[in-house]
This record gives sequence, C-alpha cells and structure tokens, in this order.
Amino acid sequence: MIPFSATLDFRSGYLTPHEAALERRLSEMLGAYADAEAARRLIGDAGDPVIYRAFDAPVPEERGHLVYRTTIISPGRVGAEYFMTKGHHHELDSAEFYLGMAGTGLMVMQDRAGVLQVEKLTPDVTVYVPPGWAHRTVNIGDDNLVFLAVYPGDARHDYASIERDGFTARVLATDDGPEVVMAE
Ligand code: PA5
Ligand code: MN
Repeated sequence: MIPFSATLDFRSGYLTPHEAALERRLSEMLGAYADAEAARRLIGDAGDPVIYRAFDAPVPEERGHLVYRTTIISPGRVGAEYFMTKGHHHELDSAEFYLGMAGTGLMVMQDRAGVLQVEKLTPDVTVYVPPGWAHRTVNIGDDNLVFLAVYPGDARHDYASIERDGFTARVLATDDGPEVVMAE
C-alpha cells in the first residue's frame, strides 16, 4: 500500500477516511454489566442505547502494520455502573498505545494473573498497555469519552477470555463520585 493521511476530529472522534464503523449496543454486551435488571430496564426505556462507536483506519490487519481506531463512548450508566467497552485481551499479547482526545475516562487493566491497574484517560494523557494486559475503557464523565488506540496489525482482539472470567474490578458511581470496586 502507499502512505496516506487521515483527519482526526478530537472532539467527535470522527476519522476521515475510515474503513469500518462499529456500533455496540447494550443488548450486545449484557454480560459485561453487573446489574442485569437495570440493563433490561434501560433497553426497555431507552430502546437499546448505543454504548459506543468506533472508526477504524484503512490499514490491513497484518503483521508489520500499525492499526488504529477511535472510540466514542456515550455518557450514561447501567444501574451504578458507567457505560464502558466490552474489554479484551489481544491474541498475541501485544502492547497498545492509547491517547485521550475528549471527555473523562478510566482504563481498567489486568494481567493474566489478575493484577489490576487503573489509569485515568483524559485529553492530556497517553496510556501504555503492556503485552498481556486486558483492558476496558469506562466513561466516568457527563460527555462523550473519545480516544485513539494504536496496536500491531496482527494483534487480534480476544473477547472470549474476558467474557468468561470478567474483570476483577468495576467502576461504580457513588455519592462521592466514581469508585473502583472489586467485583464479587
Ligand atoms: O483495541 C482497543 O483496545 C480499542 O480500539 C477497542 O477495540 C475499542 O475501544 C472498543 O472496545 P472493545 O474492543 O473492548 O469492544
Ligand atoms: Mn486493545
């Protein structure tokens, strides 16, 4: 392929040109949230809200390339739990680079032994995810959380292990603001 440039709108997260656009609704990630009853209620009341969208750069998912994607997580909660991504490992245990572009978020990361690390993601912050660390991004603000993620072309997302084992911590809204709480 030949070199190209793409325009990144930091406020909206819109990437031009982009190859694919992903839209993840609550009904597609029910198992991720602790409060199943609140999720069902929200789907009934809000008509299955879009939790997040993503735009992929037109880069081949092959060894040697760097693929990148913007994600836009809407503000909101399922019960006390903030809207968030499904979360995943990468099949090759490859590293990933995140850049906050708008809004306020937390990245919940855990390694294969279950060690937990939480980092804030805001427009002035980059987060490095080392090989072997699963990651999930949580929108703890009142506006869209927008960020960029860059990773090796052959990294491939592995959702199955997180769907099976879950994360050891959840981010919940409390009277004192967002709190990271160990999962039951
Ligand atoms: O690769 C990444 O970490 C991101 O680009 C995510 O894929 C994106 O934020 C969407 O989250 P998930 O893949 O967990 O649905
Ligand atoms: Mn990733």
